[in-house]
Amino acid sequence: MRGQCFKVLHTLYKIFLEELILVLRSLTILPGFDRNGQRENFKEILLLPGETVSIVGPTGSGKTALITDIELLAQGDTATRRWVLVNNEPPDDEIRYNPAAKPIAMITQNTKCFADVSVGEFLAIHARARGITEKKVLEETVRLANQFTGEKIHDGLKVTVLSGGQTRSLLIADAILIGAAPIILLDEIENAGIFKQEVMEIIQGSGKIIIFVTHDPVIALHTRKRIIMENGAVKKILQQEEGEVLAAQSLIELDKKISEIREALRAGRVITGKLAIADPA
Ligand SMILES: Nc1ncnc2c1ncn2[C@@H]1O[C@H](COP(=O)(O)OP(=O)(O)OP(=O)(O)O)[C@@H](O)[C@H]1O
Ligand SMILES: [Mg+2]
Repeated sequence: MRGQCFKVLHTLYKIFLEELILVLRSLTILPGFDRNGQRENFKEILLLPGETVSIVGPTGSGKTALITDIELLAQGDTATRRWVLVNNEPPDDEIRYNPAAKPIAMITQNTKCFADVSVGEFLAIHARARGITEKKVLEETVRLANQFTGEKIHDGLKVTVLSGGQTRSLLIADAILIGAAPIILLDEIENAGIFKQEVMEIIQGSGKIIIFVTHDPVIALHTRKRIIMENGAVKKILQQEEGEVLAAQSLIELDKKISEIREALRAGRVITGKLAIADPA
């Protein structure tokens, strides 16, 4: 009897959650103003599920400000005065302010887990809140996180002792497998020692809108769209060209070589004039 009751309650809870999490069909960014108060020179940026986007530009050009506008679902009420529409209309307050209904997960350079719980407990709490009961999902999330980082994570570790790279890997895996958010924002994950090729590949098949703020050419060349920032404004919006897909592949080879050299230097080995890795004499 109790089991039955629990099942019914669980089903109701799931329906309630599904009601709460909106079905995302599109995200639209409408122009605001640059740092000198000039209106931005684009009509709208329309993003659809499954689309990957990078935001690039010099330091201080407004990349974080743009991604923050998206995370806040700005309604002309931020420094940039941009508007962000969900399914072609201004989102209601429930979507903007209720964390359970918000369709966005943002992972930044400073993202940290503060709760004094283990990795396993952290994921279980999140899964429970989402109505996910299969234990397998939790194991898969840890496994996926470990595909993104060289420093292995296990469920017994306290989330507060995870390194920057481990934290971000765990949160990205959590956002993909447990989180319901159809939009994932990633602000400069490349500096965290994360295996970005793996993240790019897995994330691209997730059907979500994924937006990277990045200084990394490998990530920038891999995304379908590139938004170029200058002086607090969107300067250009480029669509990935066919040739760039090939360039992105070649760049990965180069990037792997650089990673090997980085690892060798960390391990106290030396590099020859021809970029071969050797042991010190
Ligand atoms: N359109 C704008 N209007 C007014 N202020 C802006 C605008 N865009 C950005 N800013 C402000 O300019 C500063 C730098 O912007 P931001 O941090 O977004 O740069 P960034 O491109 O992310 O730089 P970094 O590469 O160093 O992270 C911030 O204080 C931000 O609030
Ligand atoms: Mg920034």
